[in-house]
Amino acid sequence: MLPRIIAEIAQNQGWISFARYMELALHAPGGYYAAANNKFGAEGDFVTAPELGRLFGRTLARQLRALLDEDKTRSILEVGAGSGALAQTLLEELNGEYSILETSADLRARQRARLGDRVSWLDSLPQRFRGVVVANEVLDAMPVHAVAWRAQGIMERGVAADGERLLWKDRPASGALLEEARKISPPVPYESEIGLAGQAWLRSLAERLEQGVILVIDYGFPRHEYYHPQRSAGTLMCHHRHQAHGDVFARPGHEDLTAHVDFSALAEAARDAGLDVLGYATQAQFLVNSGITDVLGEANVENALHYAPLAAEANTLLSPAEMGELFKVLAVGRGVKKPLLGFTHNDRSHTL
Ligand SMILES: C[S@@+](CC[C@H](N)C(=O)[O-])C[C@H]1O[C@@H](n2cnc3c(N)ncnc32)[C@H](O)[C@@H]1O
Repeated sequence: MLPRIIAEIAQNQGWISFARYMELALHAPGGYYAAANNKFGAEGDFVTAPELGRLFGRTLARQLRALLDEDKTRSILEVGAGSGALAQTLLEELNGEYSILETSADLRARQRARLGDRVSWLDSLPQRFRGVVVANEVLDAMPVHAVAWRAQGIMERGVAADGERLLWKDRPASGALLEEARKISPPVPYESEIGLAGQAWLRSLAERLEQGVILVIDYGFPRHEYYHPQRSAGTLMCHHRHQAHGDVFARPGHEDLTAHVDFSALAEAARDAGLDVLGYATQAQFLVNSGITDVLGEANVENALHYAPLAAEANTLLSPAEMGELFKVLAVGRGVKKPLLGFTHNDRSHTL
């Protein structure tokens, strides 16, 4: 992947945006998600909630069942389904149509091998959709623009090359990026990310949603926390064999590269497209409201061999020191009348 990135930088007068770099490193042929490597689980680079076990999926299914029953829609669209673990659990728990939109051909083949013909795969967003859309840990993999607020003004941080070495290079920010960056006024000097691609993605999905809900689950913050003065180096992070590091040019194409999600920006994009914001909560609050303790209660507590891993899984999903607080759930939708189960009790300390 490095030679391709260097060639593209050369073709573009020595500079590409960070968003383009991230797109190449993750999603272009030979990029991290496109390549046939083992990304998920204990053997891979990171563990997502559905990869821990079935508890996350079984609990999420309770929220989805409530939505599907209410509106008689029986369609689920999962975006970015990874190894297919979440789809497998949801298909065990729920009836109805299940489709997946997956950009990686390698992961799509793995999903097909695991899930068979109960699922249909889409090549692009559907023209119109009714039902529930689920995107777990997908938005953090969408390209972000890198921005620096400096004494001399707002700069876009892009990527240049010195021989085989990639390096940061600033340019004055312009266009939509400058417009977005002006809405944020952190103390200078300050570096962070703006997820224009994620916002555009949500806007276009929202426009196609005739009726139903989009659930975005990911690590991130509302805007006032995302651009907090203390987070002055941004949120970019690489994941390689369960180690996280911040050297984003270290191994393009060979490791995961992510940014946290600005949930306020996503909520705004959804509102722009005419959707309602139906709920925002930490993953812990959402799972507790959706009945994770009932799911745990169905297990045989006497059988320690069975119960101990389940309790450990619940701890990882719920603990503030693990995924419970950092991960958030945002629900936006159209034509949904009843309040959503996952947001019934909220301590209100997490607002957009
Ligand atoms: C970090 S993985 C999460 C996988 C899975 N949802 C899970 O929780 O284990 C990100 C997934 O999103 C996919 N992806 C990234 N950008 C996408 C996009 N714009 N549309 C569809 N899938 C995307 C990747 O190929 C991968 O399957």
